[in-house]
Amino acid sequence: KQIKTGDEDDPGIATYDPGFVNTSSCRSSITYIDGDKGILEYRGYPIEQLAEHSTFLEVAYLLLHGELPTQTQLDEWVHDVTYHTFLHENCKQFIEGFRYDAHPMVMLMASVSALSTFYPEAGDISDPEVRQAQITRLIAKIPTLGAFVFRHQQGKPYVYPDNRLSYTENFLAMLFRMSEPTYQADPRLVQALEVLFILHADHEQNCSTNAVRSVGSSQVDPYSAVAAGVGALYGPLHGGANEAVLRMLNRIKTTDNIPDFIDGVKAGKEKLMGFGHRVYKNYDPRAKIIKKACDDVFEVTGVNPLLKIAQELEKIALEDEYFVKRKLYPNVDFYSGLIYEALEFPPEMFTVLFAIGRTPGWLAQWSELVQDKEQKIARPKQIYTGERTRDFIPMSER
Ligand code: ACO
Repeated sequence: KQIKTGDEDDPGIATYDPGFVNTSSCRSSITYIDGDKGILEYRGYPIEQLAEHSTFLEVAYLLLHGELPTQTQLDEWVHDVTYHTFLHENCKQFIEGFRYDAHPMVMLMASVSALSTFYPEAGDISDPEVRQAQITRLIAKIPTLGAFVFRHQQGKPYVYPDNRLSYTENFLAMLFRMSEPTYQADPRLVQALEVLFILHADHEQNCSTNAVRSVGSSQVDPYSAVAAGVGALYGPLHGGANEAVLRMLNRIKTTDNIPDFIDGVKAGKEKLMGFGHRVYKNYDPRAKIIKKACDDVFEVTGVNPLLKIAQELEKIALEDEYFVKRKLYPNVDFYSGLIYEALEFPPEMFTVLFAIGRTPGWLAQWSELVQDKEQKIARPKQIYTGERTRDFIPMSER
């Protein structure tokens, strides 16, 4: 809406757009989305091709540098990330300070921001080498932090990184390698998780990326900016939706209960979690790829019984006037939780997986932001609706 500011000193017109529905906050050359056609591209490459042919670290390189790496560049990048996976030993103490039942996303947010204290040079964001060092560190260390918060919650000893393994295998080993030192993740499960990381790697100016950019615009170090992104992602309307979907499916329990549930949604009692998107007014292209990954995972783990409820919900919703009229389709979170559950993650870990996948995107956006000469500190206007100048009232007269 364009509205009068109402201010006598400034009778101009301001845009009132509280959810940034039609406001561009930046120029960016990283991710392209056409929400009506269901198109998602990273640096011009369609998400379908990247999910099929690429790896997560190659996609991270692409997002960060704008081009696919040569073999030498890729080898160097993978080597650098692999040899930064260890945490400073003191990091464990932060995690140990949390209650056993603290939400992993909050532990992750706190530990990401605490990383900045170990790398005080990180604040020198004008130096490209310093920037690159923090980018490598954060992408390398976030799976280790994610695995440590998981182990803390389970009351199990931490498993240190094993740098002989690939990025995603290493993450799974840190989570699930216990008394069984020969633990080896099934390559089909590793591949499914790798694809999920690729699908989550960036999504232009979503809520958490906007948080990273907004905080980053104050020129703070990248750990503090990314911690803000983790906080935003935690919310149930954003990355937390995958956890909420699983809880919703468990609550619905059987397909017989779906009609009542849908009636409740239409009556405004609750939302159909995992449906709807600010940008996609068509099927989320990531949801299509995830549906296929579901089949691959269930071939290994056996079918998750909640899949039937999800499929039935989708079928009913896609034919129902309420959802059709509002262009509400399944988003990335509708099916991802089913895969995560099949991989034996508890629901509160789902958004941590999303955060690991999104970290290269947050950092690519942060890097673009700090090099953008047009960028100013993010400081929106407001439309003031309160009282104007009035005299203080003594307590006895109130
Ligand atoms: N279930 C039921 N109704 C819905 C849903 C839903 N999931 N999503 C939107 N609607 C309705 C709204 O109530 C509104 O109806 P109205 O016009 O009668 O008031 C209409 O559809 C438009 O919705 P808005 O809230 O205006 O859409 P907005 O773009 O602001 O919100 C959002 C997008 C937050 C994703 C929303 O669709 C939602 O809450 N979905 C459920 C949570 C979810 O799955 N989030 C994950 C998003 S993807 C991600 O972050 C990775």
